[in-house]
Amino acid sequence: MPVAEIKIPMVDPGRWYRKHLSEVQQLLGEVLSSGRYLLASRTVAFEQKLADFCNTSYAVAVNSGTDALYLSLTVAGIGDGEVIVPSHTAAATISAIEQAGAIPVFADIQSRGVCLDPEDVERRITERTRAIVAVHMFGVSANMTALRELASLHGLLLLEDCAQAFGATHQGVPVGGLGDMGAFSFYPTKNMGAAGDAGAIVCNDGVTAQRLVAARQYGWDDERRVCGPGINSRMDEFQAAILNLRLEHWPQDFARRLHIAERMQNAVAGNPKLSHREAPIGDVHAYHLFVVECAEPELLSAHLAARGIASAYHYSRPAHGESHFEQYATGLELPNTSHLYERMLSIPLFPELTDTEVAQIEAALGVW
Ligand SMILES: Cc1ncc(COP(=O)(O)O)c(C=O)c1O
Repeated sequence: MPVAEIKIPMVDPGRWYRKHLSEVQQLLGEVLSSGRYLLASRTVAFEQKLADFCNTSYAVAVNSGTDALYLSLTVAGIGDGEVIVPSHTAAATISAIEQAGAIPVFADIQSRGVCLDPEDVERRITERTRAIVAVHMFGVSANMTALRELASLHGLLLLEDCAQAFGATHQGVPVGGLGDMGAFSFYPTKNMGAAGDAGAIVCNDGVTAQRLVAARQYGWDDERRVCGPGINSRMDEFQAAILNLRLEHWPQDFARRLHIAERMQNAVAGNPKLSHREAPIGDVHAYHLFVVECAEPELLSAHLAARGIASAYHYSRPAHGESHFEQYATGLELPNTSHLYERMLSIPLFPELTDTEVAQIEAALGVW
């Protein structure tokens, strides 16, 4: 089949900025003139809005999702203990655990879900386990009810990796406030995307929040005395200004994302060769990614490409298949994870897709 030009990309963050260009330009101009570029009023305002959104007492803005995970594990003092984590995640989750000095212990996902299987987590708990990192993949919350129970029973830290799940809820509660801490990424292609790197941690414990505030800036306390471990992970005011604006537009943007997701669901449901994993009943799927399952994803990818539609693998291999992480995976078998990786393909889903583009994707799924 001839290779067609890709006209419908997987993501295109520039579309949002082109739509809101004058508002964005004005905000960025105000930041420049203010002379305050890091951790100033716009960051403080964003922290407040994020905490409100997540229904948590605190939010601490940092420089990336990876830093948010690393700083959470560090202030919790997990040391060189074991951290149970799904292998079905971004490499960044595992890098953050390593960076914190701990040992990742990979667990499987649920057979019909995309997040940690609490029963498999339980099997992997040892006396060296210090934490569970629940990753809310694709926009679906992990089973936080079961994981919370396990973490409480064994005295473990429960950290949520919310990088892919801004807008998701579990049993009516927004992700981020379901564990001890919730780490967000605002990488440009995320549901809540900045125009560069940015991240945040939300939590309900005042002492933890204070430690995070210190740890994101050299370990400084209010009087600039080094009171604990720290790095430089400040959020810049340009990103905070953009994130505040994006939060204002969130209701319409998210509604559009959900509307497109519903159309994709119907298209998938109309083709017996395709399937899609929904969020459990009672949970809201935030549709960071729309992932289709089929017997031969590479053929589906070629079929879409021939119609000018991009697709992608999230990811090409599970984390325990990455050569650097194989050291934590000797003899490891994760059948549910492996099964999903043989079958999945992500298709474009972002609010700025036009109705024509959505119709083209629906049509392409219909004739495969
Ligand atoms: C599940 C998950 N965790 C962590 C991260 C890391 O976020 P960042 O790129 O902002 O460091 C990402 C982003 O790709 C992610 O998808």
